[in-house]
Amino acid sequence: MAIKKIAVMTSGGDSPGMNAFIRGTVRAGIKKGLEVYGIYEGYQGLIENLLVKMSYDSVCNIIQHGGTILKTSRSKEFMTVEGRKKAAANLDALGIDALICCGGDGSYAGLKAFANKETGEWKGQVIGTPGTIDNDVKGTDYTIGFDTAINTAMEAIDKLRDTGDSHNMHFIVEVMGRHCGDLANAVGIASGANNVLIPETPTNVDEVLKSLRDHGHDIIVIAEGDEIGGAYKLAEILKEKYCPVGEKECNPNFRVCVLGHIQRGGSPTARDRILAHTMAEFAVDKALEGATLSAVGIKQDNLVLYSL
Ligand code: F6P
Repeated sequence: MAIKKIAVMTSGGDSPGMNAFIRGTVRAGIKKGLEVYGIYEGYQGLIENLLVKMSYDSVCNIIQHGGTILKTSRSKEFMTVEGRKKAAANLDALGIDALICCGGDGSYAGLKAFANKETGEWKGQVIGTPGTIDNDVKGTDYTIGFDTAINTAMEAIDKLRDTGDSHNMHFIVEVMGRHCGDLANAVGIASGANNVLIPETPTNVDEVLKSLRDHGHDIIVIAEGDEIGGAYKLAEILKEKYCPVGEKECNPNFRVCVLGHIQRGGSPTARDRILAHTMAEFAVDKALEGATLSAVGIKQDNLVLYSL
């Protein structure tokens, strides 16, 4: 059965490139003869029926902007059967055949529950595309927004280096990544950090301490999810260890900088825009071929479709 209508949404934490993704989906869909609807505010908007028909021009002049024009949310209500039933009714009322969602692992879990063949509330097709700065979606080498976040954090650290070098000051820089050290690793390499602390490996504070003692000014990158407990906690531990017992005047010269949500904003890099566009068109093509409960990924530079 040929599909006629698709809906596109962004979900979970936003990531730079989501607008390029929306643009790509809307325009590819329209060019292929489909009606395309935009869902505002992620799963919560789907429950509240915030669906709007998109035109070719409705996605004009957004490719260069961070954030998402459709907005996004983390919906608790969609985790309930009642919430998902409301969402399904809204899609059915408009005759939507396929839902394409750009988000992270939480958003994928939502799609899976929603369209599960036995227990799901919706009978239409669902396709996930990976959008998160964390790069923590299984089955894809890269997620939309990861590259921009690396560059944003790297540029911030370049600036910290200027002042760090002038004052012989060490910096402990916290980057995002609740469960995944990909962003911290990439940022650490790109900005020449001597230590990168990530959730996947045990942190050796003595090694970090040695590095601080050996270098005039040092950059330590720590993922927010590192088991030590983040940049401020690390600073506390290091300060205690750095100062000889009983020495009151000891004042090690290091500072903490938590980059936080800055990493989620900003104009997407060319790489993220291209990734977003190619994934969007691929998702539309796969929807037309009848794919469901599927995810789009990129593996060794090839677009792939795999099971959610
Ligand atoms: O999942 C993406 C992410 O940016 C994580 O790196 C971070 O831990 C989290 O979102 C922050 O979420 P919120 O904006 O809801 O605080």
